[in-house]
Amino acid sequence: MAVIAHKNPQVTVTVVDINEDRIQGWNSDELPVFEPGLLDVVKEARGRNLFFSTAVEAAIADADIIFVSVNTPTKEFGVGKGSAANLMYIEKCARTIARVAKSDKIIVEKSTVPVRTAEFLKQILHAEGSEYQFDIVSNPEFLAEGTAIVDLNNPDRVLIGGDQTVEGKKAVAEVSKLYEAWVPKERILKTNLWSSELSKLTANAFLAQRISSINSISALCERTDADVDEVARAIGMDSRIGSKFLRSSVGFGGSCFQKDILNLVYLCEFFGLPEVADYWRKVVEMNDFQKRRFVGRIMTAMFNTVSGRNLAIFGFAFKKDTNDTRESAAIAVCRDLLEERAILHIYDPRVKKSQIYRDLGFDPDKEDSRVKIVNDPYQAVADCDGLAVLTEWDEFNDLDYSKIFERMRKPAHIFDGRNLLDAERLRQIGFTMHCIGKGETGAAVKPMRRKSDF
Ligand code: UGA
Repeated sequence: MAVIAHKNPQVTVTVVDINEDRIQGWNSDELPVFEPGLLDVVKEARGRNLFFSTAVEAAIADADIIFVSVNTPTKEFGVGKGSAANLMYIEKCARTIARVAKSDKIIVEKSTVPVRTAEFLKQILHAEGSEYQFDIVSNPEFLAEGTAIVDLNNPDRVLIGGDQTVEGKKAVAEVSKLYEAWVPKERILKTNLWSSELSKLTANAFLAQRISSINSISALCERTDADVDEVARAIGMDSRIGSKFLRSSVGFGGSCFQKDILNLVYLCEFFGLPEVADYWRKVVEMNDFQKRRFVGRIMTAMFNTVSGRNLAIFGFAFKKDTNDTRESAAIAVCRDLLEERAILHIYDPRVKKSQIYRDLGFDPDKEDSRVKIVNDPYQAVADCDGLAVLTEWDEFNDLDYSKIFERMRKPAHIFDGRNLLDAERLRQIGFTMHCIGKGETGAAVKPMRRKSDF
């Protein structure tokens, strides 16, 4: 919304939330989320035509277009538990809108929602018996965290779905106008409502599938002498495959991929397509396998005993340039290591201690000797047997690894969950390197070979 306000100075954008702390944050220079470039955009538009407020009802009453951007978490109870989306917050919004509206409204689904949510929205708005007209438009968001402003300024496409009626098309055109302020018209794609809703889930499912596909190959690479980065490069040069999103890793995280795929799985099951549901479920299962496999590698290298040993963790966010930890692979990896009674020294340049403690199931107000959170990477590695890189922060490449080697216990292992570091150079310093999708050249554990090779 900040970018829309920035690009459309003639349009007043009011962002409302019932959470006062958050709104206070948005009105300060300490924004509630860390996102490169966002503060500059907010500062330019804030107070001019961008406002942040807790006066939800007044903002609804004033608005011509309402973007519903509440979260749609995976249901944790009842029918569809563990896979369907919980539409409780969407429903609450719809009921409030119907109750306070004093004029016709265009309601835009910005949250990622299951297919046919617009139908559900229409029913609720109708059930509230309002005398005004509500046109529902689907306008899913494709930005990625950490590159949000760049993605928004130059989107591959903007997708707007609406009813194929005269009013529906008019509503789509109104929303389109906001984007036409900076997005070339040919990149604004207009579809029916259901295609738009389904395209969002499908885009995320395809992106996550690419990561799970390359990660599945990384497992095979580790058993052979193939190198997953070389394989990714070789296949990525095929223009039909393309080179992006083929970086093998400890596993994908973030608030969207897993949730959206599970949502797709639920939809397939609901519509009587169990084979399709199984196909997509495997993408999530492969991701879980990848995280477990990473811990398995640490365990094998340490002869199955990490109990009481210090391990350093570099990076806790689900990707670089964000302080978001939702579904971060680091959570699963750290929890498994704690289960094995390792002592963790965690360093992340942006994630706060209280967040890490909460994610790992500890009381954020009490110190726990099992997890030490430090502000300095060199402090993190002191007396550690191993160092695991779990987020691809650029700054990890600029550290003095000779100094790190000196501080660690020997043999000093590095488990690079992002294939970020220069393994050759680090081996020369003396580290035992374990990289995703690469054999253990120079390591104590040799790659397993087929029987016929011996
Ligand atoms: C993702 C999509 O990329 C966006 O298009 C979408 O709008 C967004 O979800 C959403 O639905 O809100 P995001 O989760 O912010 O964006 O970040 P990504 O860059 O997609 O990364 C997701 C995860 O995959 C991260 O953990 C990342 O480290 C991992 N990843 C990504 C890999 O392991 N390998 C890759 O090659 C790329």
